[in-house]
Amino acid sequence: MTTPVLSLKGVRKSFGPVEIIRGIELDVVPGERHAVIGPNGAGKSTLFHLISGQFAPTSGDILLDGLPIGGMPPHLVNRQGLARSFQITNIFPGVSVFENLRLAVMRRFGLDYVFWRRASRMKAVTQLADELIAQVRLERRATTLASELSYSEQRSLEIGMTLASDPKVILLDEPMAGMSHEETEYTTGLIRDITKGRTLLIVEHDMDVVFRLSDRISVLVYGQIIATGSPAEIRGNAQVREAYLGEEAH
Ligand SMILES: Nc1ncnc2c1ncn2[C@@H]1O[C@H](COP(=O)(O)OP(=O)(O)OP(=O)(O)O)[C@@H](O)[C@H]1O
Ligand SMILES: [Mg+2]
Repeated sequence: MTTPVLSLKGVRKSFGPVEIIRGIELDVVPGERHAVIGPNGAGKSTLFHLISGQFAPTSGDILLDGLPIGGMPPHLVNRQGLARSFQITNIFPGVSVFENLRLAVMRRFGLDYVFWRRASRMKAVTQLADELIAQVRLERRATTLASELSYSEQRSLEIGMTLASDPKVILLDEPMAGMSHEETEYTTGLIRDITKGRTLLIVEHDMDVVFRLSDRISVLVYGQIIATGSPAEIRGNAQVREAYLGEEAH
């Protein structure tokens, strides 16, 4: 069995007296696209917050490449190789698409202005930003202000900025939320492309997307994973159908 790149062991999270995440065991293997599905309020976003460092687990362990990251602040988790895209992101609306990406690349190295005055360093950053803008297919929008992008283009930019830290593991929480059918199709293709050779953990409500994009799916219900398996296994799982998929699985 492949060593998991991300591993959750007995992870629990309570807010006051209420336990929201109730003992999660989850192994994500390198290179897979793994979806987490489940009803509203099941704890999917909370789980992502625990992995990315916004929340500390009440108990249990989270390992990234074997290193414990549970309770580590978000910027350190990011430095260990995990990036998440936020619904509200670090996009600067009054700055061009290209500059946003360049700033994101600079953030990755986290060094001060003096460092960047060396022309060769700046050139390397510009080159990386060039690669990113191509990956998220926004070359034609390079000089457009981020605030003037369409909704799905903004999401593409967000994904580009997530990639700027060259993460091993990418977390996307409902990247297609609020998108039209066409935008969803487009973004699904984009996500498939940019996650080649990387590991993806995604929360998504659109079951069409989930079943097409994922290598494996975990079903989270009321703070517990009730099943993990291939799309076919999840579709055929009676407990999952009863708890969540319902008519959608037919
Ligand atoms: N900071 C918090 N303090 C207290 N309760 C919280 C906090 N964050 C989330 N919760 C509660 O945890 C539960 C799970 O919320 P969460 O947002 O993780 O669900 P979700 O599965 O992402 O739902 P959705 O599909 O609607 O996005 C909800 O009952 C929510 O009210
Ligand atoms: Mg959520």
